[in-house]
Parts: sequence; structure tokens; C-alpha cells
Amino acid sequence: MKIAVMPGDGIGKEVIPQGLKVLAVVAKKHGFRYDTTDYPFGAEHYLETGITLPDSAIRELAAHDAILFGAVGADPRGNARIPQGLIETDILLKMRFELDQYVNLRPCKLLPGVPTPLARVTPADIDIVIIRENTEGLYCQQGGFLYKNTPREVTNQIEVTTRHGVERCIRYAFDYARRFGRKKVTLVAKTNVLRYAHSLWMRCFEEVQKDYPGIESSYDHVDACTMFLVTNPRRYDVIVTTNMFGDIITDLAAAIQGGMGMAASANLNPTRETASMFEPVHGSAPDIAGQNKANPIATFLSVAMMLEYLHQPDAAQDIYRACAEVVADPKNHTGDLRGKATTTQVGDAVCGKLA
Ligand code: NAI
Ligand code: MG
Repeated sequence: MKIAVMPGDGIGKEVIPQGLKVLAVVAKKHGFRYDTTDYPFGAEHYLETGITLPDSAIRELAAHDAILFGAVGADPRGNARIPQGLIETDILLKMRFELDQYVNLRPCKLLPGVPTPLARVTPADIDIVIIRENTEGLYCQQGGFLYKNTPREVTNQIEVTTRHGVERCIRYAFDYARRFGRKKVTLVAKTNVLRYAHSLWMRCFEEVQKDYPGIESSYDHVDACTMFLVTNPRRYDVIVTTNMFGDIITDLAAAIQGGMGMAASANLNPTRETASMFEPVHGSAPDIAGQNKANPIATFLSVAMMLEYLHQPDAAQDIYRACAEVVADPKNHTGDLRGKATTTQVGDAVCGKLA
């Protein structure tokens, strides 16, 4: 299999090499082969070359089986030279949109031994899968300014919502629930206020759920959802939601599973017509970059999701097991988990459990 590797900026350059180390160990153990192609794109590359992500690279990426991605983004303090949002829209969103990675899959599971900010919850209380629509909504950059920088300035930013886009995302959520034996799918939206776009979400949800009689379905407004994720995370099994709301509630979900260092994700094109992308949820973390302090577990869990997608379920399970065993011991905790371990130590520990 062909894997494109894009570490990006900051701690992306530290966690991705550890992810490749784990991949090499697990490939040897489970007897599969793979090739990697390296791509340099990110904020630093842009500052050096003026290039974000060229169309030729998109075509090359599409021809891979999967993309392993770190994080892009410069230090917000020192980079007035990069226009606001350029790196996010021209690299990250461009890949998601052009490769039609319409599902953003973000599992949220509390592993034993990992500190959570929630009182009185145990790992049995937090095992949620969030499916975020990834190609539409408020992220499409449809809108504009009128009379910019004058007192009469007008802007609008349109929430692009299509029946095709909504339906395929909701269907993926129910298919996922069926495939992995999950019992309930909750739609999270804001139907009481966003009465056009989210009416379409609700109607599609009601139509699709009829095809999945064994699976319970429910609905929460997004504001209530943020509250329940803190007060009663057991309420949720599979959540399906919009691009914008998914962005917000998955950061909350990451916090309750132990923080950004623990949260993995996949950007999937379930048709397999183009490449899917696997990445830790966190950004480039300029505050700790270059210090061997980043938690690489989110990257390892993303590698496991990639292998599951590439038809290597045993290798994926092996990584999940090794990560769970490693984080169960506080001596393997990095600073974000209030420990003292380094990025490379955690990588070595996971490789040790795999060997
Ligand atoms: P961030 O996720 O980079 O960092 C937030 C906080 O979490 C920081 O205190 C950081 O030290 C900590 N943190 C994050 N990942 C960690 C890890 N693996 N181990 C230990 N601690 C970790 O988010 P922030 O600071 O808002 O953004 C920094 C840059 O990253 C910006 O340029 C932003 O645009 C970009 N970004 C890129 C993303 C991507 O490429 N997918 C996602 C989020 C932000
Ligand atoms: Mg986010």
C-alpha cells in the first residue's frame, strides 16, 4: 500500500516520525508491506516558497491509498506574514474538499489510567464516536464583504447544506453503528433556530433512520449536547453533526478523553475513489514545539485508524492494545497528562509493547 506522509509544522514534525516508527514495527510483526512518499507542505514551507498546496500535489495525493498528516499552522504570535486562515483553507480544507473526504470520524474513548477533567466518570462512561460532515456547512467560504472597513460594512457567511451531502454523512453514521455493533445514533444540530439548513438535516435523518430498524435514534440541540458531554457523557454512542458543530464538540470530546494529545481522527472518502487522510486532532502546538514534549498517542491512534481502513484490522487492534497498556502507566505520561515522559519515550514504550 502507498501512504503519503505530511508532517506539517511544529509538533507535527515530532509526532509523525514516532507514528512511522510504530507503523514499521507493526508492519513487520503482521507481515504487510507499504511505501511512503513525503510531502513538505505547511506554514513553514509556505514562508520559504510561497506555495501552500499545489493542484499537482492534490492529484498525486489522490493516487495514494491513505495520507498520514500531522498538523499545519504557524505560531500565531510571530507570523503576520501569513494571511489569517490561509494555511487552514489552502492546505487542510483543500485536501478535505478536493479529495471529497466527506466524513470526519473522531472517536472519543477514555482509556484506563488517563486523567479526565470530569469528576466521578470511569472509562466505561466515555466511548463515543463523533461523525462530522466534512465538506459543506460554514466551511465552504461562500459569502463576502460589502463596504469593507466602512461603518456600513456587511458580511455574510453561508452554511452550504445539500441533501446529497447531508444524506451520505447520516447514512455513514448508521452504517458505522451497524458495522461496529453500536446501539444509538444522535443527530446534533440546532433545528429551533437554523430553521432551513437544519430542517434538511432533520428530514434526512428521519428518512435514513427508517433503513436501520435495529438502531435507536435521537436528537439533541448542540447547546444541550455540550452540557451533556460534561454532565452525562454516557448519553452518547454515535453522534452525527454538521461541520461547524462537529469542530466544536470534538474539541470538548477531546478534553474529556484526556486532552488533545489523546484524540485521533480520520477524514474519509468511504467510496475509496480518492485517498482518505488520518491525523491527530491537535494543531502544531507552537508553545511546546521542538522540545520533545508532545504526546504522540493521538498520532498512534490515527495510524491504527488508517490500518483499519487499509484492511489490516489485526495490526490496528495491536496498536490500540499497546497504546492502552502504555497510557495505563503514569510513567509514560507526557506533560499534557501531567507526567514527565518525552515524545520519544512514549514512542519507544508503544514499540516495546508491540514487539
Ligand atoms: P493546538 O492543538 O496546537 O494546541 C492547543 C494546546 O494543546 C497547546 O497548549 C498545546 O501545547 C497543547 N497540545 C496540543 N497537542 C498536544 C500534544 N500532542 N501533546 C501535548 N500537548 C498538546 O491548537 P492551537 O494552539 O489553537 O493552534 C496552533 C496552530 O495549529 C495554529 O496555527 C492553528 O491554526 C493550527 N491548527 C492546526 C490543526 C490541523 O492542522 N489539523 C488543528 C488545530 C490547530
Ligand atoms: Mg478543531
